[in-house]
Amino acid sequence: MSVPATVREIRLARRPQGRPVAADLLVAETPAPEPEPGRVLLRNRWFLVFPGLATLLGDTPEGSPYPSIEPGDTLFGPAVAEVVEAPEGSGLHPGDLVAHGQGWREYAAADPAALTPLDGALPDPAAHLAPGAVGYGALTRTAPVRPGDTVLITGAAGAVGALAGQTARLLGAGTVLGTTGSPAKAERLRRLGYDTVLVDERTGDGRADGPGRAERFARQLAEAAPEGIDVLLDTVGGHQAEAALAAARPGARAALVGLLSGQFGDTPAADGSLRLDAFQLIVKGVQVAGYANAGHAAVVSEWLPRLGGWLRSGEITFPHVKVAGLDRAPQAFQDMTEGRYFGTVVVEL
Ligand SMILES: NC(=O)c1ccc[n+]([C@@H]2O[C@H](COP(=O)([O-])OP(=O)(O)OC[C@H]3O[C@@H](n4cnc5c(N)ncnc54)[C@H](OP(=O)(O)O)[C@@H]3O)[C@@H](O)[C@H]2O)c1
Repeated sequence: MSVPATVREIRLARRPQGRPVAADLLVAETPAPEPEPGRVLLRNRWFLVFPGLATLLGDTPEGSPYPSIEPGDTLFGPAVAEVVEAPEGSGLHPGDLVAHGQGWREYAAADPAALTPLDGALPDPAAHLAPGAVGYGALTRTAPVRPGDTVLITGAAGAVGALAGQTARLLGAGTVLGTTGSPAKAERLRRLGYDTVLVDERTGDGRADGPGRAERFARQLAEAAPEGIDVLLDTVGGHQAEAALAAARPGARAALVGLLSGQFGDTPAADGSLRLDAFQLIVKGVQVAGYANAGHAAVVSEWLPRLGGWLRSGEITFPHVKVAGLDRAPQAFQDMTEGRYFGTVVVEL
Protein backbone atom coordinates (compact mmCIF):
# COMPACT_ATOMS: atom_id res chain seq x y z
CA MET A 1 0.00 0.00 0.00
CA SER A 2 1.52 3.37 -0.97
CA VAL A 3 1.32 6.17 1.59
CA PRO A 4 0.85 9.75 0.35
CA ALA A 5 3.61 12.24 1.23
CA THR A 6 1.05 14.50 2.91
CA VAL A 7 -1.75 13.24 5.14
CA ARG A 8 -4.56 14.93 7.10
CA GLU A 9 -5.57 15.13 10.73
CA ILE A 10 -8.02 17.05 12.94
CA ARG A 11 -6.60 19.65 15.31
CA LEU A 12 -8.07 21.96 17.91
CA ALA A 13 -8.31 25.43 16.32
CA ARG A 14 -9.41 27.26 19.49
CA ARG A 15 -10.86 26.43 22.87
CA PRO A 16 -14.67 26.13 22.68
CA GLN A 17 -16.59 29.08 24.16
CA GLY A 18 -19.62 27.34 25.70
CA ARG A 19 -20.90 24.51 23.53
CA PRO A 20 -18.29 23.08 21.14
CA VAL A 21 -18.92 23.84 17.46
CA ALA A 22 -17.35 22.52 14.26
CA ALA A 23 -15.31 25.72 13.82
CA ASP A 24 -13.41 24.93 17.03
CA LEU A 25 -11.71 22.16 15.03
CA LEU A 26 -9.75 22.28 11.76
CA VAL A 27 -8.49 19.84 9.14
CA ALA A 28 -4.68 20.15 8.85
CA GLU A 29 -2.20 18.70 6.36
CA THR A 30 1.03 17.23 7.68
CA PRO A 31 3.85 15.02 6.36
CA ALA A 32 3.02 11.29 6.59
CA PRO A 33 4.43 9.70 9.75
CA GLU A 34 7.74 7.88 9.21
CA PRO A 35 7.86 5.28 11.94
CA GLU A 36 11.10 4.87 13.85
CA PRO A 37 12.53 1.33 13.96
CA GLY A 38 10.31 -0.99 15.98
CA ARG A 39 7.14 1.02 15.40
CA VAL A 40 4.09 0.21 13.27
CA LEU A 41 2.64 2.38 10.50
CA LEU A 42 -1.17 2.42 10.58
CA ARG A 43 -3.90 3.67 8.26
CA ASN A 44 -7.02 4.53 10.26
CA ARG A 45 -10.27 3.03 8.95
CA TRP A 46 -12.72 4.27 11.62
CA PHE A 47 -12.47 6.51 14.66
CA LEU A 48 -14.94 7.33 17.42
CA VAL A 49 -16.72 10.69 17.85
CA PHE A 50 -17.32 10.79 21.59
CA PRO A 51 -18.50 13.30 24.24
CA GLY A 52 -15.45 12.87 26.48
CA LEU A 53 -13.55 14.92 23.91
CA ALA A 54 -15.57 17.98 24.93
CA THR A 55 -14.16 17.58 28.44
CA LEU A 56 -10.59 17.43 27.10
CA LEU A 57 -11.04 20.56 24.95
CA GLY A 58 -11.96 22.70 27.96
CA ASP A 59 -10.61 22.94 31.49
CA THR A 60 -9.99 19.25 32.09
CA PRO A 61 -11.12 18.38 35.63
CA GLU A 62 -8.55 17.24 38.17
CA GLY A 63 -8.05 13.48 38.07
CA SER A 64 -8.85 13.11 34.36
CA PRO A 65 -7.09 10.01 33.00
CA TYR A 66 -6.25 11.92 29.80
CA PRO A 67 -4.37 15.21 29.24
CA SER A 68 -6.26 18.27 28.05
CA ILE A 69 -6.02 19.15 24.34
CA GLU A 70 -4.60 22.61 23.61
CA PRO A 71 -5.08 24.76 20.47
CA GLY A 72 -2.83 23.33 17.73
CA ASP A 73 -2.85 19.81 19.21
CA THR A 74 -4.07 16.85 17.17
CA LEU A 75 -7.19 15.24 18.65
CA PHE A 76 -6.99 11.63 19.80
CA GLY A 77 -9.33 8.84 20.82
CA PRO A 78 -10.39 5.28 20.02
CA ALA A 79 -9.74 4.12 16.45
CA VAL A 80 -9.59 0.96 14.34
CA ALA A 81 -6.73 0.90 11.83
CA GLU A 82 -5.18 -1.33 9.20
CA VAL A 83 -1.48 -2.16 9.53
CA VAL A 84 0.55 -0.71 6.63
CA GLU A 85 4.04 -1.71 7.79
CA ALA A 86 5.09 -3.63 10.88
CA PRO A 87 8.52 -4.55 12.25
CA GLU A 88 9.56 -8.16 11.92
CA GLY A 89 8.78 -10.19 15.01
CA SER A 90 5.93 -7.91 16.09
CA GLY A 91 3.38 -10.54 15.09
CA LEU A 92 1.61 -7.93 12.95
CA HIS A 93 1.31 -7.98 9.17
CA PRO A 94 0.09 -5.54 6.51
CA GLY A 95 -3.69 -5.63 6.33
CA ASP A 96 -4.22 -6.72 9.97
CA LEU A 97 -6.84 -4.69 11.85
CA VAL A 98 -5.93 -3.27 15.25
CA ALA A 99 -7.62 -1.06 17.86
CA HIS A 100 -5.61 1.86 19.23
CA GLY A 101 -5.90 5.38 20.66
CA GLN A 102 -4.78 7.70 17.82
CA GLY A 103 -8.04 8.57 16.12
CA TRP A 104 -8.85 11.84 14.31
CA ARG A 105 -6.06 11.37 11.71
CA GLU A 106 -5.59 9.37 8.53
CA TYR A 107 -2.25 7.72 9.42
CA ALA A 108 -0.41 7.05 12.69
CA ALA A 109 2.82 5.49 13.92
CA ALA A 110 2.57 3.42 17.09
CA ASP A 111 4.39 1.11 19.44
CA PRO A 112 3.16 -2.48 18.84
CA ALA A 113 2.48 -2.76 22.60
CA ALA A 114 -0.12 0.04 22.29
CA LEU A 115 -2.13 -1.93 19.70
CA THR A 116 -4.86 -4.52 20.24
CA PRO A 117 -5.11 -6.88 17.27
CA LEU A 118 -8.75 -7.58 16.35
CA ASP A 119 -9.50 -11.27 16.38
CA GLY A 120 -12.77 -11.27 14.45
CA ALA A 121 -14.80 -11.45 17.70
CA LEU A 122 -17.23 -8.86 16.28
CA PRO A 123 -18.86 -9.11 12.84
CA ASP A 124 -18.32 -5.38 12.19
CA PRO A 125 -14.82 -4.16 13.17
CA ALA A 126 -16.24 -0.66 13.80
CA ALA A 127 -18.27 -2.17 16.68
CA HIS A 128 -14.98 -2.34 18.63
CA LEU A 129 -15.38 1.44 19.01
CA ALA A 130 -18.79 1.16 20.73
CA PRO A 131 -18.49 1.88 24.47
CA GLY A 132 -20.65 -1.14 25.34
CA ALA A 133 -18.16 -2.50 27.88
CA VAL A 134 -18.95 0.46 30.13
CA GLY A 135 -22.62 -0.48 30.41
CA TYR A 136 -21.75 -4.17 30.72
CA GLY A 137 -19.18 -3.58 33.47
CA ALA A 138 -21.52 -1.27 35.37
CA LEU A 139 -24.52 -3.61 35.05
CA THR A 140 -22.56 -6.71 36.10
CA ARG A 141 -20.20 -5.22 38.73
CA THR A 142 -21.18 -1.84 40.17
CA ALA A 143 -24.96 -2.08 39.83
CA PRO A 144 -25.62 -5.74 39.04
CA VAL A 145 -28.95 -6.54 37.40
CA ARG A 146 -30.98 -9.28 39.05
CA PRO A 147 -33.83 -11.21 37.41
CA GLY A 148 -36.97 -9.11 37.14
CA ASP A 149 -35.34 -5.82 38.14
CA THR A 150 -36.65 -2.43 37.03
CA VAL A 151 -33.65 -0.75 35.37
CA LEU A 152 -33.32 2.90 34.34
CA ILE A 153 -30.73 3.93 31.76
CA THR A 154 -30.32 7.69 31.36
CA GLY A 155 -29.02 8.88 27.98
CA ALA A 156 -30.54 5.74 26.48
CA ALA A 157 -30.11 6.77 22.83
CA GLY A 158 -26.38 7.48 23.17
CA ALA A 159 -23.48 5.21 22.37
CA VAL A 160 -23.43 3.77 25.90
CA GLY A 161 -27.18 3.75 26.47
CA ALA A 162 -28.30 2.19 23.19
CA LEU A 163 -26.29 -0.94 24.00
CA ALA A 164 -26.81 -0.82 27.77
CA GLY A 165 -30.62 -1.09 27.57
CA GLN A 166 -30.36 -4.20 25.43
CA THR A 167 -27.65 -5.60 27.71
CA ALA A 168 -29.76 -5.01 30.84
CA ARG A 169 -32.58 -7.06 29.26
CA LEU A 170 -30.20 -9.90 28.34
CA LEU A 171 -28.89 -9.86 31.93
CA GLY A 172 -32.43 -10.50 33.19
CA ALA A 173 -34.08 -7.10 33.75
CA GLY A 174 -37.87 -7.27 33.94
CA THR A 175 -38.56 -3.66 32.95
CA VAL A 176 -36.15 -1.34 31.17
CA LEU A 177 -36.73 2.41 31.17
CA GLY A 178 -34.65 4.94 29.26
CA THR A 179 -34.36 8.69 28.90
CA THR A 180 -33.66 10.89 25.90
CA GLY A 181 -33.72 14.64 25.29
CA SER A 182 -34.88 14.17 21.70
CA PRO A 183 -38.58 13.24 21.26
CA ALA A 184 -37.89 11.77 17.80
CA LYS A 185 -35.69 9.06 19.34
CA ALA A 186 -38.38 7.61 21.63
CA GLU A 187 -39.90 5.26 19.06
CA ARG A 188 -36.48 3.96 18.02
CA LEU A 189 -35.71 3.24 21.66
CA ARG A 190 -38.94 1.27 22.02
CA ARG A 191 -37.96 -0.78 18.96
CA LEU A 192 -34.64 -1.45 20.69
CA GLY A 193 -36.55 -3.04 23.57
CA TYR A 194 -37.01 -0.18 26.03
CA ASP A 195 -40.40 -0.66 27.76
CA THR A 196 -40.82 3.02 28.61
CA VAL A 197 -39.02 6.08 27.28
CA LEU A 198 -38.97 9.30 29.30
CA VAL A 199 -38.50 12.36 27.09
CA ASP A 200 -36.66 15.13 28.95
CA GLU A 201 -36.78 17.61 26.11
CA ARG A 202 -34.02 20.17 25.51
CA THR A 203 -34.43 23.33 23.45
CA GLY A 204 -33.75 23.13 19.71
CA ASP A 205 -29.96 23.38 19.51
CA GLY A 206 -29.34 20.83 22.22
CA ARG A 207 -29.26 23.25 25.17
CA ALA A 208 -30.48 21.88 28.49
CA ASP A 209 -32.58 24.50 30.23
CA GLY A 210 -36.12 25.67 30.94
CA PRO A 211 -38.00 26.29 34.19
CA GLY A 212 -39.74 23.32 35.74
CA ARG A 213 -37.83 20.80 33.65
CA ALA A 214 -36.48 18.89 36.66
CA GLU A 215 -39.95 18.68 38.27
CA ARG A 216 -41.52 17.51 35.00
CA PHE A 217 -38.91 14.79 34.67
CA ALA A 218 -39.39 13.60 38.28
CA ARG A 219 -43.18 13.42 37.70
CA GLN A 220 -42.70 11.38 34.50
CA LEU A 221 -40.43 8.96 36.33
CA ALA A 222 -42.89 8.56 39.23
CA GLU A 223 -45.67 7.72 36.74
CA ALA A 224 -43.51 5.30 34.73
CA ALA A 225 -42.08 3.48 37.77
CA PRO A 226 -44.54 4.02 40.65
CA GLU A 227 -42.76 1.40 42.77
CA GLY A 228 -39.34 2.87 42.04
CA ILE A 229 -36.25 1.44 40.38
CA ASP A 230 -33.80 -1.30 41.35
CA VAL A 231 -30.89 -0.35 39.11
CA LEU A 232 -29.70 2.96 37.66
CA LEU A 233 -27.10 3.35 34.94
CA ASP A 234 -26.59 7.08 34.70
CA THR A 235 -24.81 8.75 31.79
CA VAL A 236 -26.48 12.17 32.21
CA GLY A 237 -26.09 13.42 35.82
CA GLY A 238 -27.91 16.60 36.87
CA HIS A 239 -31.64 16.48 37.55
CA GLN A 240 -32.09 13.09 35.84
CA ALA A 241 -29.67 11.42 38.25
CA GLU A 242 -31.20 13.26 41.22
CA ALA A 243 -34.74 12.12 40.31
CA ALA A 244 -33.57 8.56 39.64
CA LEU A 245 -31.79 8.29 42.99
CA ALA A 246 -34.84 9.70 44.74
CA ALA A 247 -36.87 6.90 43.07
CA ALA A 248 -34.49 4.15 44.25
CA ARG A 249 -36.15 1.22 45.98
CA PRO A 250 -34.68 -0.43 49.10
CA GLY A 251 -31.50 -2.26 48.08
CA ALA A 252 -31.20 -0.42 44.77
CA ARG A 253 -27.81 -0.12 43.01
CA ALA A 254 -26.68 2.88 40.99
CA ALA A 255 -23.69 3.22 38.66
CA LEU A 256 -22.66 6.74 37.66
CA VAL A 257 -20.76 6.60 34.38
CA GLY A 258 -21.25 9.93 32.60
CA LEU A 259 -22.20 13.60 32.84
CA LEU A 260 -23.85 14.47 29.55
CA SER A 261 -25.99 17.18 31.15
CA GLY A 262 -22.88 19.22 31.92
CA GLN A 263 -20.33 17.92 29.45
CA PHE A 264 -20.99 20.40 26.70
CA GLY A 265 -20.39 23.41 28.91
CA ASP A 266 -23.82 25.02 28.84
CA THR A 267 -25.60 24.09 32.06
CA PRO A 268 -25.13 24.63 35.78
CA ALA A 269 -24.65 20.86 36.13
CA ALA A 270 -21.24 21.21 34.47
CA ASP A 271 -19.51 20.74 37.81
CA GLY A 272 -20.99 17.26 38.21
CA SER A 273 -22.57 18.00 41.60
CA LEU A 274 -25.79 16.26 42.69
CA ARG A 275 -28.32 17.05 45.43
CA LEU A 276 -29.09 13.80 47.20
CA ASP A 277 -31.32 12.90 50.15
CA ALA A 278 -28.72 11.07 52.21
CA PHE A 279 -31.31 9.98 54.80
CA GLN A 280 -33.34 8.13 52.16
CA LEU A 281 -30.22 6.51 50.66
CA ILE A 282 -29.15 5.35 54.13
CA VAL A 283 -32.45 3.88 55.27
CA LYS A 284 -33.04 2.19 51.93
CA GLY A 285 -29.47 0.83 51.77
CA VAL A 286 -28.98 2.25 48.29
CA GLN A 287 -25.51 1.72 46.81
CA VAL A 288 -24.16 4.50 44.61
CA ALA A 289 -20.77 4.20 42.91
CA GLY A 290 -18.91 5.57 39.94
CA TYR A 291 -17.70 3.27 37.19
CA ALA A 292 -15.00 4.03 34.62
CA ASN A 293 -13.86 1.63 31.94
CA ALA A 294 -10.18 2.41 32.41
CA GLY A 295 -8.47 -0.30 34.42
CA HIS A 296 -11.14 -2.93 33.70
CA ALA A 297 -9.38 -4.96 30.99
CA ALA A 298 -11.02 -8.14 32.30
CA VAL A 299 -14.48 -6.63 31.71
CA VAL A 300 -13.57 -5.84 28.10
CA SER A 301 -12.27 -9.39 27.55
CA GLU A 302 -15.52 -10.78 28.93
CA TRP A 303 -17.74 -8.32 27.05
CA LEU A 304 -16.36 -8.66 23.50
CA PRO A 305 -17.12 -12.39 23.00
CA ARG A 306 -20.55 -11.91 24.59
CA LEU A 307 -21.30 -8.96 22.32
CA GLY A 308 -20.04 -10.93 19.29
CA GLY A 309 -22.31 -13.86 20.19
CA TRP A 310 -25.35 -11.62 20.75
CA LEU A 311 -24.74 -9.73 17.48
CA ARG A 312 -24.45 -12.96 15.50
CA SER A 313 -27.56 -14.47 17.11
CA GLY A 314 -29.50 -11.23 16.52
CA GLU A 315 -30.22 -10.80 20.26
CA ILE A 316 -28.54 -7.40 20.21
CA THR A 317 -28.16 -4.74 17.53
CA PHE A 318 -25.33 -2.22 17.23
CA PRO A 319 -27.04 1.17 16.74
CA HIS A 320 -24.50 3.40 15.02
CA VAL A 321 -23.87 6.02 12.38
CA LYS A 322 -20.88 6.00 10.03
CA VAL A 323 -19.98 9.49 8.83
CA ALA A 324 -17.91 9.32 5.63
CA GLY A 325 -14.64 11.25 5.36
CA LEU A 326 -12.24 13.15 7.60
CA ASP A 327 -13.56 16.50 6.30
CA ARG A 328 -16.90 15.81 7.96
CA ALA A 329 -15.42 14.98 11.38
CA PRO A 330 -15.66 18.52 12.87
CA GLN A 331 -19.34 18.82 11.96
CA ALA A 332 -19.96 15.26 13.18
CA PHE A 333 -18.57 16.29 16.57
CA GLN A 334 -20.92 19.28 16.78
CA ASP A 335 -23.87 17.17 15.59
CA MET A 336 -23.13 14.55 18.25
CA THR A 337 -23.26 17.17 21.01
CA GLU A 338 -26.57 18.48 19.65
CA GLY A 339 -28.18 15.04 19.77
CA ARG A 340 -28.48 14.60 16.00
CA TYR A 341 -27.38 10.94 16.03
CA PHE A 342 -28.55 7.68 17.57
CA GLY A 343 -26.06 5.26 19.12
CA THR A 344 -22.32 5.17 18.42
CA VAL A 345 -20.90 7.71 15.95
CA VAL A 346 -17.77 6.84 13.95
CA VAL A 347 -15.98 8.60 11.12
CA GLU A 348 -15.16 6.17 8.31
CA LEU A 349 -12.05 6.87 6.25
N1 LIG B 1 -17.20 5.89 32.63
C1 LIG B 1 -16.66 5.56 31.46
O1 LIG B 1 -15.72 4.76 31.37
C2 LIG B 1 -17.26 6.13 30.22
C3 LIG B 1 -17.01 5.55 28.97
C4 LIG B 1 -17.66 6.09 27.86
C5 LIG B 1 -18.49 7.20 28.00
N2 LIG B 1 -18.64 7.73 29.24
C6 LIG B 1 -19.51 8.89 29.45
O2 LIG B 1 -20.85 8.44 29.37
C7 LIG B 1 -21.67 9.47 28.83
C8 LIG B 1 -22.40 8.96 27.61
O3 LIG B 1 -21.44 8.65 26.61
P1 LIG B 1 -21.94 8.27 25.15
O4 LIG B 1 -20.73 7.95 24.37
O5 LIG B 1 -23.06 7.31 25.26
O6 LIG B 1 -22.47 9.67 24.67
P2 LIG B 1 -23.74 9.95 23.76
O7 LIG B 1 -24.94 9.69 24.59
O8 LIG B 1 -23.62 9.23 22.49
O9 LIG B 1 -23.61 11.53 23.54
C9 LIG B 1 -24.41 12.22 22.67
C10 LIG B 1 -25.82 12.33 23.20
O10 LIG B 1 -25.86 13.13 24.37
C11 LIG B 1 -27.18 13.58 24.57
N3 LIG B 1 -27.12 14.97 25.04
C12 LIG B 1 -26.66 16.05 24.41
N4 LIG B 1 -26.77 17.15 25.21
C13 LIG B 1 -27.30 16.72 26.37
C14 LIG B 1 -27.65 17.35 27.58
N5 LIG B 1 -27.48 18.66 27.77
N6 LIG B 1 -28.19 16.59 28.56
C15 LIG B 1 -28.37 15.27 28.40
N7 LIG B 1 -28.05 14.60 27.27
C16 LIG B 1 -27.51 15.33 26.28
C17 LIG B 1 -27.88 13.45 23.22
O11 LIG B 1 -28.79 12.36 23.32
P3 LIG B 1 -30.40 12.57 23.33
O12 LIG B 1 -30.70 13.38 22.11
O13 LIG B 1 -30.91 11.20 23.31
O14 LIG B 1 -30.68 13.27 24.62
C18 LIG B 1 -26.76 13.08 22.28
O15 LIG B 1 -27.18 12.27 21.21
C19 LIG B 1 -20.72 10.64 28.53
O16 LIG B 1 -20.74 11.50 29.64
C20 LIG B 1 -19.37 9.97 28.40
O17 LIG B 1 -18.29 10.83 28.63
C21 LIG B 1 -18.06 7.23 30.34
